[in-house]
Amino acid sequence: MQIKFVDLAAMNDEIRERVDRELAEIHKNTAYIGGPQVEAFENEFAEFLGVRHVIGVGSGTDALRLALMALDVGAGDEVVTTPMTFIATAASIIQTGAKPVFVDVDPETCNLSPRAVRRYLETHRNGNGKPHKTVILPVHLYGLPAAMPELNAIAQEFGALVVEDACQAHGARIETPAGWIRAGAISSASAFSFYPGKNLGGWGEGGAVAVDDDELKARISSLRDHGRISHYAHEEIGYNARLDAIQAAVLRAKLEKLDQWNGRRRKLAKAYCERLAGCGVKLPAEPTGYESVYHLFVIRTEKRDAIRQALLEKNIGCGIHYPLPLHLQPACRYLGYKSGNFPEAERVADTALSLPMHPALTLSEVDRVAEVVRDTMKKESSLFAGGHSANTAACEPPPTCGG
Ligand SMILES: Cc1ncc(COP(=O)(O)O)c(C=O)c1O
Repeated sequence: MQIKFVDLAAMNDEIRERVDRELAEIHKNTAYIGGPQVEAFENEFAEFLGVRHVIGVGSGTDALRLALMALDVGAGDEVVTTPMTFIATAASIIQTGAKPVFVDVDPETCNLSPRAVRRYLETHRNGNGKPHKTVILPVHLYGLPAAMPELNAIAQEFGALVVEDACQAHGARIETPAGWIRAGAISSASAFSFYPGKNLGGWGEGGAVAVDDDELKARISSLRDHGRISHYAHEEIGYNARLDAIQAAVLRAKLEKLDQWNGRRRKLAKAYCERLAGCGVKLPAEPTGYESVYHLFVIRTEKRDAIRQALLEKNIGCGIHYPLPLHLQPACRYLGYKSGNFPEAERVADTALSLPMHPALTLSEVDRVAEVVRDTMKKESSLFAGGHSANTAACEPPPTCGG
């Protein structure tokens, strides 16, 4: 029996009735782009995040690019970010004319390392050709919030801006002295993707920027709509990057379920951690004060390729996020990085394996996946030991994982 990596159809079944009703209304009103559905979604998602404004846009890439543009980031500026992410993070920076500066990740969380950011900013603080503007752009990778308190403190010290790539972290939270805060509500502007496979995903392309500042909201709203300030007046050249009503209707229905679905993901993550503890794979970390929404459940092991093969043979979906860090992507060659520049990110790329994770996954499916991983680890370690014993690989203590 197949075990799916993600199961979007199962999630659709839970929202079908409501979406059918909303779609009938949209077809009647023919307000397909923008309009009341989009506005309602923007308000509901803003309330969910605890921010003043959400601006619906065409994709997560649009959201990142427009957030940076609205902050006047462009040619001559530097955006310090992680190489362990999807290409869109760097693409959006490059599309503004700014330069992405990669620094290494934290080996435990796989997120942007505050220490590496500090080291870069200290080295480049007073040099000639100091960039006009510096932005720190963390990614909440796999659904785990980046170290925002530390990164915000560094930004303040060095006069940098912070923009969050929250495209994988809808609903994730960080504990702060003011209480728990959602990822995407902890910086000047944050970007979300509603690509169908995301924790909050549409039935097509979609994205959003979250901000508190009124002027930023106005500028992003204009930039997403050809720089429009009134029907036939355009203040600047913008983009066609608008969210459509059908996506908004689906997103509104899914938003109602998001906390429940994320809770389910956290339960499944906990089950994976219990079943895989001690088998030699590195389990995802969830530091105290951080709540991941497990967009992906990623284990790390040198035996990644053997496990992947075993899973695929048993018809179990899996993936690699991401096999090539951005500093080694052909499209980023012009930046001049080379292999070995970011050893931690490169190690993640060589060892990461994403196991099935979605709210409709069952505990018995988790059992089956874990059994294949454990069996393969055992087989591989006995092969490695020359077949003398079914020796266990180095044991990992079970981390705090899931809730
Ligand atoms: C970390 C990250 N950033 C940006 C994006 C871009 O989002 P979109 O595909 O909606 O443009 C994605 C989507 O996969 C992502 O995972």
